[in-house]
Amino acid sequence: MSEIVYLNGSLVPREDARISVMDYGFLYGYGLFETMRAYGGRIFRLERHLERLAGSAAKLGIAVDKSVLESAVMDTIKANRLSEARIRLTVSIGEGGTVPDPASCGQPTVLVVVSHYQPLPQEVYEKGYRAIVSSVRRNSQSPLAAMKSLSYLESMLVRQEARAAGVDEAICLNGEGMLAEASTSNIFLVGDGALKTPSVSSGGLPGVTRETVLEIAGKLGITTMEDDITFKELIQAEEAFLTNSVIEIMPLVEIDGKPIGSGTPGEITRKLMAGYKEMVRGEVG
Ligand SMILES: Cc1ncc(COP(=O)(O)O)c(C=O)c1O
Repeated sequence: MSEIVYLNGSLVPREDARISVMDYGFLYGYGLFETMRAYGGRIFRLERHLERLAGSAAKLGIAVDKSVLESAVMDTIKANRLSEARIRLTVSIGEGGTVPDPASCGQPTVLVVVSHYQPLPQEVYEKGYRAIVSSVRRNSQSPLAAMKSLSYLESMLVRQEARAAGVDEAICLNGEGMLAEASTSNIFLVGDGALKTPSVSSGGLPGVTRETVLEIAGKLGITTMEDDITFKELIQAEEAFLTNSVIEIMPLVEIDGKPIGSGTPGEITRKLMAGYKEMVRGEVG
């Protein structure tokens, strides 16, 4: 974790950083965050992360300035002299009154914590992830559905469920029984000659990596589909994988103890993994 963190306009040693006990991010989960990845000190798709955060912030009535956030993130990476890094940008609505009322909040709280990132060993990608279906359903109707909000307890519970089952991930369906996403990643599958991912209206996060993968697939001439996807389609898929900014593209080879396709990372998945690396090299290499 970073030695130096950015907090509300200042770079300070982590142990000196203080947030109010009345911060509504802490008290009510009233805020947002982004987890990003830096390669050689440069953040991949920083602008898209900031756009997502700013878009949600506008809906929540949190005043953010993207250029301030961008400098905050870059300054924190530099202050910690990091090259390969994981960056956590957190913005809350700030300190408020005792009676829960967002209108009582003053300035937003902005925090950046960075850490060195050691990618997972190649063997993990060669083997792929095993998952179960979570008992937690994503609420596609929730106002928080498309936000990376600080109200992240559901995702934590999904992750714990996976750990308790001795697998790597758990997949959430939505209230309608369609695929939504995993605990901290989006899901894709390959079937019927197309690359499919649940539409954003299914209740998952509009992931930056998800968007990048769809773009790469387009460039590679792979047919893509964003739609409602049934659990049956996942079981019958030829390939599947999970995406987020940190793990990038992780093959998903097993669900509820049954292999997906051949039970090994598929050909389209491998092509997209290679395409993603190339995209990163091209943009921030
Ligand atoms: C719940 C959830 N879904 C999907 C994602 C993937 O988003 P991104 O590709 O922007 O990292 C994340 C990221 O951590 C997440 O927390």
